[in-house]
Amino acid sequence: MKTQDGTPPRAEIVIDLDAVRHNVGLLAERAAHSGAATMVVVKADGYGHGATDVARAALEAGATWIGVCHLEEALSLRRAGVTARLLSWLHVPDEDFAPAITADVDLSVSSPRALEAVLAGAHRAGRPVRLHLKADTGLTRNGCPSAQWPELVEAAAKAEATGDAEVVAVWSHLASADEPANPSVDRQAARFATAYEQARAAGLRPIRHLANSPAVLTRPDLHLDLVRPGIASYGLNPVPWAGDFGLRPAMTFRARVALVKRVPAGEEVSYGGTWTTPRETTLALVPTGYADGVPRALSGRMEVWLGGRRRPVVGRVCMDQIMVDCGDDPVVEGDEVILFGTGDRGEPTAQEWADTLGTIHYEIVSGMVRPRVTRTVINRGARR
Ligand SMILES: Cc1ncc(COP(=O)(O)O)c(C=O)c1O
Repeated sequence: MKTQDGTPPRAEIVIDLDAVRHNVGLLAERAAHSGAATMVVVKADGYGHGATDVARAALEAGATWIGVCHLEEALSLRRAGVTARLLSWLHVPDEDFAPAITADVDLSVSSPRALEAVLAGAHRAGRPVRLHLKADTGLTRNGCPSAQWPELVEAAAKAEATGDAEVVAVWSHLASADEPANPSVDRQAARFATAYEQARAAGLRPIRHLANSPAVLTRPDLHLDLVRPGIASYGLNPVPWAGDFGLRPAMTFRARVALVKRVPAGEEVSYGGTWTTPRETTLALVPTGYADGVPRALSGRMEVWLGGRRRPVVGRVCMDQIMVDCGDDPVVEGDEVILFGTGDRGEPTAQEWADTLGTIHYEIVSGMVRPRVTRTVINRGARR
């Protein structure tokens, strides 16, 4: 994107929707091979990539469902014109569910109490609610514990019989599908099968969904009726141990050099003087810092792509700026700096940042919703 005066922005994340379409196409094809449909998860503003843009691209690429956490996330997609099946699954007790039910949003419940609240919303909306009953099969987070499950299932069956609800699905979420051969995956699958059988015994005929990205990629036996990939849709691999899968990262974080200066040997650089120029050198100032999503914990531990190669960021990461050591190479103010990208040219990746920081790439990209960082969307293959 260009700013109003025609120059590229100071700092931007560039979202490649063609990459999203490519990734979702791969995932939906895997799911379809098992006879499953695909719900792409766009919570947290599409993991930082832009929920509406990603939802549209995902639906073009073969997804038929969209998933979010919160009612507001779902309603915002509806306001933007996304009409596909849409599930929202994390609510607080006193929310008003009526607007979401009116807007055709499917709702998940994890307890008989939550079911009551949702049914009250359905009465206010004057129409039945489409329910997904969430079983806690071992993640012990959201989801109904097995002791309460028969009560939830009975109450849902009653609501279906009275025409207040349609029970669309029984579902659950996996705790450790990204770990090779973690026994909890099969344990959860077995508990899920029991929960589903109990729902059927109560007269319900729901579909089943369980698989997140790791399970979409490594456990076709768990694809069931619908899969729910998030991170892999954005081109980030949650199971690098299992292969490459042809995913393409959709987010690039880039900025522009604000100032270039020649500095003599022996000068301390940035707050605290933690790095001293070992020789006369050229430093490039990049106007992005921890307020823009460059973690301060990467101080002295990161590189950027600048002028056709990787170069070290030296001294501390500040709130607004970082310094890059360019040696004697000619670097020009205004040059493009890639902080992380696809890695195709050798530039750093979100995975590399995560590895250095001891975290996961999910946290890196979803943390890139920053007021001072422009989001630019590339959408060459959009359907017209
Ligand atoms: C309930 C639920 N389903 C699916 C996903 C997608 O998971 P992933 O991004 O690992 O594919 C998430 C994300 O954490 C989730 O909370």
